[in-house]
Amino acid sequence: MSAPLSFDGRVVLVTGAGGGLGREYALAFGQRGAAVIVNDLGGDIKGGGRSSAAADKVVEEIRAKGGKAVANYDSVEDGEKLIQTALDAFGRIGAVSRKVLALKKILRDRSFARTSDADWDLIQRVHLRGSFLVTRAAWNHMKNQKFGRIIMTSSAAGIYGNFGQANYSAAKLGLLGLSNTLAIEGQKYSIHCNTIAPTAGSRLTETVMPPDLVQSLRAEYVAPLVLWLCHEACQENGGLFEVGAGWIGKLRWERSLGRTVRQKNKSMTPEAVRDAWNEICDFTDASKPASIQVILMFRYLQDINTKEKLVLSCSCIRCCCVGQSSAVGQTLPEMSFSYTHMNCILYALGVGMSSREPDQLKFLYEGHEDFSCLPTFGVIPAQSAMTGLGSIPGLNIDFTRLLHGEQYLEMFRALPTSGTLTSRATVADVLDKGSGMVILLDVHTYSGRELVCYNQFSVFVVGAGGFGGKRKSQKAVVTAPLPDRAPDAVIVDQTSRDQAALYRLSGDWNPLHIDPSFAAMGGFESPILHGLCSFGFAARHVLKQYAANDVSRFKSIKVRFAKPVYPGQSLQTEMWKEANRIHLQCKVKETGDVVLSGAYIDLHADASTDGLQSDLVFAEIGRRIRDAGHELVKKVNAVLGWEISKDGRTVREWTVDLKTGRGSLHTGASEADVIFSVSDEDFMEVVTGKLNPQKAFFSGKLKVKGNIMLSQKLEAVLKDYAKL
Ligand code: NAI
Repeated sequence: MSAPLSFDGRVVLVTGAGGGLGREYALAFGQRGAAVIVNDLGGDIKGGGRSSAAADKVVEEIRAKGGKAVANYDSVEDGEKLIQTALDAFGRIGAVSRKVLALKKILRDRSFARTSDADWDLIQRVHLRGSFLVTRAAWNHMKNQKFGRIIMTSSAAGIYGNFGQANYSAAKLGLLGLSNTLAIEGQKYSIHCNTIAPTAGSRLTETVMPPDLVQSLRAEYVAPLVLWLCHEACQENGGLFEVGAGWIGKLRWERSLGRTVRQKNKSMTPEAVRDAWNEICDFTDASKPASIQVILMFRYLQDINTKEKLVLSCSCIRCCCVGQSSAVGQTLPEMSFSYTHMNCILYALGVGMSSREPDQLKFLYEGHEDFSCLPTFGVIPAQSAMTGLGSIPGLNIDFTRLLHGEQYLEMFRALPTSGTLTSRATVADVLDKGSGMVILLDVHTYSGRELVCYNQFSVFVVGAGGFGGKRKSQKAVVTAPLPDRAPDAVIVDQTSRDQAALYRLSGDWNPLHIDPSFAAMGGFESPILHGLCSFGFAARHVLKQYAANDVSRFKSIKVRFAKPVYPGQSLQTEMWKEANRIHLQCKVKETGDVVLSGAYIDLHADASTDGLQSDLVFAEIGRRIRDAGHELVKKVNAVLGWEISKDGRTVREWTVDLKTGRGSLHTGASEADVIFSVSDEDFMEVVTGKLNPQKAFFSGKLKVKGNIMLSQKLEAVLKDYAKL
């Protein structure tokens, strides 16, 4: 059995604790080790009168059982004084002290027409303003100690309304709004705020309810929920619970799928609203929005539609919607994206390009003779398709549970540096992964009629699986395993503190990447970098390493987003070249966490290096290493490097590792004991015996760096082929 929940060393303030629910909480906290401030001004249920007796009695009860408690007789409207009592008595508003607030009941019930200003104001003052004042007085102490638990006591009257309680209902639902926002603002300080709507027998209800009902609604049946929500082990935040008679249930909002009633190029009319009323109010396929951002996303979608002068015709999509599988093949309204050189430059800066590096200037300066747009900018015109998923009936996506899992981008031509692109998005497939649902979203982007690029967004909706769909799809572009050897090349780049702030200007406005409170709600210690930003970093590392920043060589990229990156961390791209495919993985250097996995980039062959004769020789060397690598390692015990040039430019690097394991051969430079630099033609002259290697060396045709003595071991490698 797990340990009982203890409140040893905690300081708990319970308001209105002289009677009813508050008293029960105070006793329960006292019994479990908390130091309790028992607040009660000892008034009557209409808010009149004062007496210290109620609070004193509860304090005595707690002390009699060996607990710690002090009384406070101030009204909650004097919030600071309540907190001061806690400080004076227990003086430990530090790391170990804790507080909880519960609030008291007063009523001024009247039918609405008879509600006076005084009736209204008193109830707002005590319930809503009182809660605000006490909480505000406690807030900074909780913030400083990086811990706090707050319980707001709402009421079913607030949630559902109740005859004669307009003033009370308004105040009680106001508390829920207050609590929801405190939950967001407090999250990063581990201050959690939850709301309960109790039903309990009290001095009020006992006059109107039969005794056995009052008995079954004892206040002690509410206290356990309050204690759990206040315990440090409880991570619930921003919840709303109904509780009574030993039963507890959680409430949440539900929103119908709704219906867009505005029509292209027409004004919106009340008649259109009337005609769509059934659909507006139809809760089939309803979503459960959990944050304001979800709602904003929909507004954003609408903005896009308006800008593109394209209105989603929900009715036609809706009629073919009967579940996840029916979403396959559905298309989103065409998206249009206009941009200038400024967007290309902003994106390049967003993925870490810097004018410090001369070879990056062509991506940052529109006046550069070779000014180019990075190929991975190809995700930008297509990315809003992801928010568009919310409008696909049958998918019923909860955006708070949506993760961008994988990305594939294929280029069909270099991106123009300005212009207007149109994108068409289709739901390619919907997969059931058990723990979640995967949606494959294909987006084709065109410049006029010419296909520029194709994106496949693979999004994972946590918890939406188990609908009996298939697990795999032939339409999915899949990741690839890494070669089993040390990387051929590694590039490390530090992201800046403002990397995400900069990257978002390219169009991904998700507050997760800028707003600390929003990030905290997602369980992150601070805003995280966009996955597509790390993707851009990794792609440009490959482009630099293996394609001399030539964008026309970039064919495609596939990555899986494995872990988040925090702005300021360093991205380490490890690369393996296998013909024209560059396998890669990207890590956070500081932690070693792999953030992009199973990734690769396919390059178009370099016309200038196509058909190098020396490639054939190295292919043979590779075969020999595979057959007798172990022996070669024994004989040579060194790493040999080659730089093959054509027209005066190094076009291929080879590393023959005959030092480690069974030996290996790969393209690309690595730390070699000796490096031979030679042109493709001279290399062939030497290996075919037409050119004497010594002559080649002395005439400067063959250059040797490092341990020149190792040249003697070449014969073992190139026997029968060469005299090098
Ligand atoms: P209760 O009337 O038994 O106890 C309320 C306590 O608050 C009294 O001891 C009173 O002296 C004290 N109080 C009143 N005004 C105060 C002020 N300005 N400052 C400090 N103390 C003050 O009420 P009960 O039933 O225990 O309710 C507790 C809370 O639960 C209230 O906020 C009430 O609105 C809420 N609630 C209770 C329900 C129930 O079924 N009992 C239903 C829904 C909500």
